[in-house]
Amino acid sequence: MRTAIRYYSKFGHSKAMADVIGEVCQVGAQPVSVPLAEPVDVLFLGAGIFLGKVNAKIGEFIRTLDPSQVGCVVCFGSSAIVDSPVPLLRKMLEERGIKVCDQSFSCLGSMGPVHAGHPNAEDLELLRSFVTSLK
Ligand SMILES: Cc1cc2nc3c(=O)[nH]c(=O)nc-3n(C[C@H](O)[C@H](O)[C@H](O)COP(=O)(O)O)c2cc1C
Repeated sequence: MRTAIRYYSKFGHSKAMADVIGEVCQVGAQPVSVPLAEPVDVLFLGAGIFLGKVNAKIGEFIRTLDPSQVGCVVCFGSSAIVDSPVPLLRKMLEERGIKVCDQSFSCLGSMGPVHAGHPNAEDLELLRSFVTSLK
């Protein structure tokens, strides 16, 4: 199965999550500044939320995607106030006609002292189990 991993990460939280996904899938995780080089069956796409939005670079990346070249996107990410960035990611992807998997992974992401330390080791282990369960 051809798999790619992309993320936008301001504080390294989504990057840490992407690296765990990369370990499980044995694929290098890259920032959204790196376009997909070839068609993929599964694309993992992750981000945090800032002032209620995902960073504009996520939208820029999604606009580079060809819906016929992406089998399904598995969204992931972390946030401190709302439950998850996944609904935002899903909406942006579906508006481009890109298929989004039902399965996704979200966890807490620290905002200063709020939820400090998250994503923590336990969050990352849950993520590892989630990705393993998809294989
Ligand atoms: C300035 C700032 C604004 C944030 N705004 C939100 C927000 O509106 N909603 C939310 O749920 N989390 C918010 N967060 C928490 C981030 O989504 C969280 O830190 C996330 O883990 C960042 O992921 P990243 O390091 O991969 O970019 C905010 C954090 C900061 C520092």
